[in-house]
Amino acid sequence: MTTSTGTTFPAALGRLDSIPRTRLFAGKMPVESMPILTEHCAGARLFVKRDDCTGLAFGGNKTRQLEFYLGEACAQRADTILITGAVQSNFVRMAAAGARRLGMECHIQQEERVATESPHYRQSGNVLVSKLLGATLHSYPDGEDETGADRQLTQISAQLRAAGKIPYIIPLAPGHPPLGALGYVVAAHELLGQFDEMRLNVGEIIVGSGSGATHAGLLFGFRALGSAIAVTGVCVRRDAELQRARISATCEGIAALLEIESRVSNDDIFLVDEFLAPGYGVPNPATLDAIVLGAQTEGLMLDPVYTGKAFAAMIARAGSASKNTAMMFVHTGGSPALFAYQDVLQQRLEGLNAH
Ligand SMILES: Cc1ncc(COP(=O)(O)O)c(C=O)c1O
Repeated sequence: MTTSTGTTFPAALGRLDSIPRTRLFAGKMPVESMPILTEHCAGARLFVKRDDCTGLAFGGNKTRQLEFYLGEACAQRADTILITGAVQSNFVRMAAAGARRLGMECHIQQEERVATESPHYRQSGNVLVSKLLGATLHSYPDGEDETGADRQLTQISAQLRAAGKIPYIIPLAPGHPPLGALGYVVAAHELLGQFDEMRLNVGEIIVGSGSGATHAGLLFGFRALGSAIAVTGVCVRRDAELQRARISATCEGIAALLEIESRVSNDDIFLVDEFLAPGYGVPNPATLDAIVLGAQTEGLMLDPVYTGKAFAAMIARAGSASKNTAMMFVHTGGSPALFAYQDVLQQRLEGLNAH
């Protein structure tokens, strides 16, 4: 595993080449067409970027983000990664897998973001995978206190340091350099190359917007590279107004890391929050139906927390768009959570089959 990129990015991406990065997957993730879903929606031509195939214990968008966090951890010669996430966080599961690939330990702090006592939610899906990877689990009783969660992780890190370890913290709260978002600046560059090769003119990209690293990285990358592709973020964590401020701050953070000007203006940040309710980590009927539709048209495995909501938004937008436009969904992974939410999914399937 190396900590250099081996890639030369265009000068428009500033000092991206010189920021430590550890490659965690090879090659480019495919862009595929979705002909059956396109016919079903009877609107825009639909495509999917398969970032669910990035490897690393079931894959997902966080692999790209981890390339930069773990790159920095390697540069600091760290031997232990510390990270916070919801009980069913995909990020912590992939961080634990990435740490193993680099010969490191991983400490996961689970926040209480979703009020459920479901044994599947607490023990299956991402939790089971993280345990398989041998991560040490801690808990934080709040789900809306990112700074407090970071503080507790810093205390655990101090204990590890006192015991002779070299810890590296992946922070949760905003205000830290958004290293993870650089993974999606790289993805924007990769996508523009693929669109060129495929002679594909994509008008809109749909992506889940949680921490906002994926959304901000793509938007920043496209604009820096001179592309005007619309990027629509689908809120999965907080409403559009709060999320807009977060995306804007993350773009500024990316600009500072790359030492270039941000070309993202506030009115360029598109967000939809119709599929967020009833809240983070709680799927609504449209989300569950989108998961079923993705599976039964294109064989895609979406998830109830992130990609199901984003896919539901794409279906709604595709139906009212012209047949001459192409829309691309970024599949950001999350499939292990299907098993954590199996009760609600089974109920919905039974309801659909009864009609
Ligand atoms: C499967 C999946 N999709 C989308 C997201 C949202 O990505 P971001 O946090 O970069 O906004 C996450 C975040 O955890 C995720 O796990």
